Amino acid sequence: SSVGVVVVAAGSGSRLGADVPKAFVHLAGRPLLAHALDTVARMPGRAEVVVVAPAGLTDPGGPLWSGVVLPAGAVVVPGGAERTDSVAAGMAALGQGCEIVLVHDAARCLMPLAVFSRVVEAVRAGAAGAVPGLPVVDTVKTVDADGVITGTPERSTLRAVQTPQGFRREVLERAHASGLQATDDAALVELCGDDVVVVEGDPLGTKVTTADDLERAQWLLDRAAT
Ligand code: CTP
Ligand code: MG
Repeated sequence: SSVGVVVVAAGSGSRLGADVPKAFVHLAGRPLLAHALDTVARMPGRAEVVVVAPAGLTDPGGPLWSGVVLPAGAVVVPGGAERTDSVAAGMAALGQGCEIVLVHDAARCLMPLAVFSRVVEAVRAGAAGAVPGLPVVDTVKTVDADGVITGTPERSTLRAVQTPQGFRREVLERAHASGLQATDDAALVELCGDDVVVVEGDPLGTKVTTADDLERAQWLLDRAAT
């Protein structure tokens, strides 16, 4: 079954605080988006690719796109106000032939190819959805509006999840039709009652959110090059 990849890059990057949207911030001289697409382009088979960019930045010939190599046949569409809206816009642009959809954050620009493969394999093997995850090192608390702790989930049952998140297409479409918003797609699918499995993620896939994360990504690239 053929795979479609939606790369969401339409966020503003308010926590990073750069003068351009986060996906167009440079790492090693090229936009974060360029690094993310390099890996997507290496996926085996012919994955169909949709890039979701900020409205007004959807021309791949534009100056901020310098250094980005779009995978063959990739299209660019404008995103929406929330991440969920951007994913929906990207999914709507996928050809009908895609039976498996991967959603990937451009901000996870160093996520290795092996993780993409793991996610696709888990969905091919029959899962409704599969997401990469890592064990959590901190003890995590739930709190109420006053900051009073309401619970301590058993750490061994927790995973910090990443992207690419993969789903059977009809599962993800149904989840998005619910009209709910969430910070990841698995949450919407879980709410619909479909089972999502966690496969092994990779620390390289940590999301670039703050200026410190960008420095860390640069350090990781430098280390890989030596
Ligand atoms: N994203 C998107 N459309 C949005 C919001 C986010 O396509 N309306 C994308 C971002 O471009 C990013 C991914 O979703 O690749 C993860 O979101 P996040 O890390 O929160 O990025 P931003 O929303 O850009 O950052 P911030 O929340 O700090 O503003
Ligand atoms: Mg955000």
